[in-house]
Amino acid sequence: MIERCRLIEFPQKGDDRGHLVIVEGNQDIPFDIKRVFYIYGSDKDVIRGKHANYNTEFVLINVAGTSKVRVDDGTNEKEFSLDRPHMGIYLPRMLWKDMYAFSEDSVLLVLASEHYDEKEYIRDYAEYMAIMKKRECLKGEL
Ligand code: TYD
Repeated sequence: MIERCRLIEFPQKGDDRGHLVIVEGNQDIPFDIKRVFYIYGSDKDVIRGKHANYNTEFVLINVAGTSKVRVDDGTNEKEFSLDRPHMGIYLPRMLWKDMYAFSEDSVLLVLASEHYDEKEYIRDYAEYMAIMKKRECLKGEL
């Protein structure tokens, strides 16, 4: 599943007045954007995220500064650097994610495919691993 994470490069229409980056739902972003939130002022030692979502897909963009995201599907792990305002990382549902290494000026913009619903969050890693293991077993039985 981790292979479904991918970097997305957004169209840029900058000119001598400055940069302009375009992010269109259902076009550059592979879903209808229902929610936008952004994270800033996180210390470089802070680890955020630490959860998986049953239903929500995300695209993460560091519109200013830098951060990193580590993704884990229960079998494989991968780390991405978010360091360009015209690049995003697409995260499918049911992926464990940690965001960290925030620069002082980091503004991490998050586009989400669903409205906020705490019930669709898995915040316990052991529980996440158990769910993923069960899914693997079920797949093996098919
Ligand atoms: P949290 O999921 O811990 O943030 P992060 O993924 O960055 O670590 O969210 C922090 C708090 O904000 C928590 O009480 C839930 C709330 N929240 C909302 O109410 N709506 C949202 O869209 C998000 C992302 C969080």
